Order: sequence, then C-alpha cells, then structure tokens
Amino acid sequence: MKNKTILITGGTTGIGLATAQLLQAEGAQVIVTGRNPETLSAARAALGSSALVISSDSAALADAQAIGDVIKKHTTKLDGVFLNAGIGQFGPMEAMTPKHFDDMFGVNVRGLYFQLQSLLPVLTNPSAVVFNASVVAELGFPETSIYSATKAAVVSLGKSLAVELAPRGIRINTLSPGPIKTPIYNKLGFPADAQKGFEDHMASQSLLKRFGTSNEVAKLARFLLSDDSSYIIGENITIDGGVRHT
Ligand SMILES: NC(=O)c1ccc[n+]([C@@H]2O[C@H](COP(=O)([O-])OP(=O)(O)OC[C@H]3O[C@@H](n4cnc5c(N)ncnc54)[C@H](OP(=O)(O)O)[C@@H]3O)[C@@H](O)[C@H]2O)c1
Repeated sequence: MKNKTILITGGTTGIGLATAQLLQAEGAQVIVTGRNPETLSAARAALGSSALVISSDSAALADAQAIGDVIKKHTTKLDGVFLNAGIGQFGPMEAMTPKHFDDMFGVNVRGLYFQLQSLLPVLTNPSAVVFNASVVAELGFPETSIYSATKAAVVSLGKSLAVELAPRGIRINTLSPGPIKTPIYNKLGFPADAQKGFEDHMASQSLLKRFGTSNEVAKLARFLLSDDSSYIIGENITIDGGVRHT
C-alpha cells in the first residue's frame, strides 16, 4: 500500500479503524471520517499525526456531497476508498418507525452513494473502491429487516456501479461480513441481557462458532483495495465464518 492514499468512511472504530491501522502499517496515507467527537479524538490518538481524521456525517446529505471537495483540500489524488460507515438498529417490525427507516437508509445507502459521487473527480485511474455490506443482505434474520434491506441495496449498488464506473478505471467490489466483534453491537438498541443472548446466538450460527474480528475483515478490505486484487471487479465477497452454510 506504499504511496497510496486511501479514504475510509466510518474509520474511527471497529472494522474501519482496524483497516486504517493495517493500511497505515503497510505504508498508506490514510484519511478517515466519523461524526462522534469522542471516537474522532480516540482515532486521532490511535492513528497518530500522519493520518487525517475528518468530521463528516454520512447521514447529512450536504456533508456527503462535500466530501470530495474536503479531500481535495488535503490531497490531489485518492487511490482507494472503503465506504464502510454504517449503523444498525434492530427490533421487531412493530417497533420500527419511519425515523429508523430514514436513519439507516440515510447513512448506509444515501450517504455511501453521494459520497462516492462526490469523490469521482478525485479518484485516480486506476483506483479501487470497496463497499461494506453484510451477509444479512442475502440471509433472513428476524428483527433486522430495515438494516438488511439497506445492505441489499449496497450489494446492488456495488454491482451496477462496478459496471458503470469500470471505463473510468474505478474498480468496485463489495465485502459482506457476518458477525464481527465491534462496538456496533452496543448500539443496536438491545437491553444488555438480550444483547448477550443475541451475540451467543449469532456466534452459534457460524461454522467456526465464534465472532470474526475487525482485523480479519481489514485484511480482506486491504486485499480488495490493493493491486493484489487487480482482476477482481463487481464481486460481493462474504467473510462470515460460514454463517451462510448453517
Ligand atoms: N460488526 C458486524 O458484525 C458487521 C457485520 C456486517 C457488516 N457490518 C458493517 O461494517 C461497517 C462498520 O461497522 P462496525 O461493525 O465496524 O461498527 P462500528 O464500530 O460501530 O463502526 C461504525 C463506524 O461508522 C461510523 N459512522 C456511523 N454513522 C456515521 C455517520 N452518520 N457519519 C459518519 N460516520 C458514521 C462510526 O463513527 P462514529 O463513532 O462517529 O459514529 C464508526 O466509525 C458498517 O457498515 C456495518 O454495517 C458490520
């Protein structure tokens, strides 16, 4: 990754931060976004002064559409983007509100789409773009309906935009994680006892009987962002410990 400049949205915690750290260790210049002042500041401490940590809210259309101009202020070229920022709010259908719907689609789908649109002028030819979807895009899990629909939309965007943007040298792939131990599980809206039950259930659903780690996903993101995957395009690659096979 030497001499490459890579943007990671939602790079302040979990999978995004692990990817930023891995790419940085391999010589990349990393730029990460987030919106929570506490996690932004923790990411600045974790990544050090060579990384650029930017406050940018994927849910705010104006922020998403401005990300290209923000990046241009700091670098003339972007070799890769990991569109990773995402939120999940789980619950039975009766408990879901239009706000849940708009919040999840706002970050996971609209934010991703308009961030990429805004970044087109700064992406180099060739460049690599990776979307973070989820295995739930193709599996039926209870109480995850809206979140799963957002991720199915991400998988679909990954296919159509890979075709549309290939002539511009932009190589898009999607990765779909299964259960990965990150702070997202503290934000799903479960009471503590239900959360433990959910986590145990998720782990038992995998062939490997455990959660994956952020670092395991980071290695796949690194591969898809690097020239090692130069002939892979328009794919959706699952990293789920075998959840789909149980
Ligand atoms: N963990 C899993 O089991 C799993 C499985 C499949 C897919 N995924 C996907 O993986 C991605 C990363 O999730 P994670 O598990 O690493 O969770 P995480 O630790 O909660 O990370 C989410 C990241 O996205 C950022 N983010 C959230 N909303 C944002 C917004 N409106 N604007 C800017 N940044 C925002 C967060 O920053 P703040 O701290 O500022 O909010 C954080 O950096 C998500 O797209 C998630 O859906 C996760």
